[in-house]
Amino acid sequence: MTDNFSISSITPQQFDSLAVLHRQAFSNSMNARLGLGYAKKLIKWFAENPACIALAAVDSHGRPQGYALGMPTTLSKNLSRDLAPVAAVGIISHPQLLFDREFRAVLRSRLRLLCGLGGGQAKYPPPSLPEPTISLTGIGVSPSSQGQGLGSRLVEAFESRARTMGARSVRLSVRIDNAAAIRCYEKCGWSLCPTPAELPTVRYYSKLLFA
Ligand SMILES: CC(C)(COP(=O)(O)OP(=O)(O)OC[C@H]1O[C@@H](n2cnc3c(N)ncnc32)[C@H](O)[C@@H]1OP(=O)(O)O)[C@@H](O)C(=O)NCCC(=O)NCCS
Repeated sequence: MTDNFSISSITPQQFDSLAVLHRQAFSNSMNARLGLGYAKKLIKWFAENPACIALAAVDSHGRPQGYALGMPTTLSKNLSRDLAPVAAVGIISHPQLLFDREFRAVLRSRLRLLCGLGGGQAKYPPPSLPEPTISLTGIGVSPSSQGQGLGSRLVEAFESRARTMGARSVRLSVRIDNAAAIRCYEKCGWSLCPTPAELPTVRYYSKLLFA
């Protein structure tokens, strides 16, 4: 059913439509709620960084219907640092976000990471994964194309690209209530990792790429 879609690297012409798609797919996440400017910058950051993975799935009319973003686990501090100015603009223009407890927790964690005080999620799962490890940082499929196998195809394309880049393992975090995403990752052979007790709403998955 997904034969109508093709997957390749994100191009600059797709930044705008993918930012819109990102906000539709992640309507409740911190990144999406920071506004379109932040979403565009996020997509651009991955697409322009040669150490990262930035894939778009387009339909037979060339319209983006999904994307997958990934980066070496070592880069998460760079991402927070580089996007801090546009995140600040997002917060100033959406100040109501600061009333949200979960938003404040994520913000606090990123600020701690930036200040070298720990925080962030890159340290999970523990370093038992063979390195280099690439993190599947974001994946989204437009609501109208979900449930047709496109997410799984994106995960497989992500793994294949990570392997080409020399990664020996891949990892991700997902909210425990995101049943569709968890089903998608398990279908693709990703395994559940031990979850740190201090992060009860999150699950970690990983997959070894060699063999
Ligand atoms: C997660 C996501 C990328 C999956 O994309 P997709 O194209 O729907 O994925 P697939 O069709 O390959 O697989 C989805 C699976 O979940 C199942 N599923 C869908 N909704 C479900 C639900 N509420 N509960 C359980 N399973 C569900 C589907 O039936 C399918 O499994 P199946 O093939 O065995 O039938 C997509 O749902 C999405 O964009 N979600 C919003 C953004 C997001 O949460 N991203 C992940 C953050 S970690």
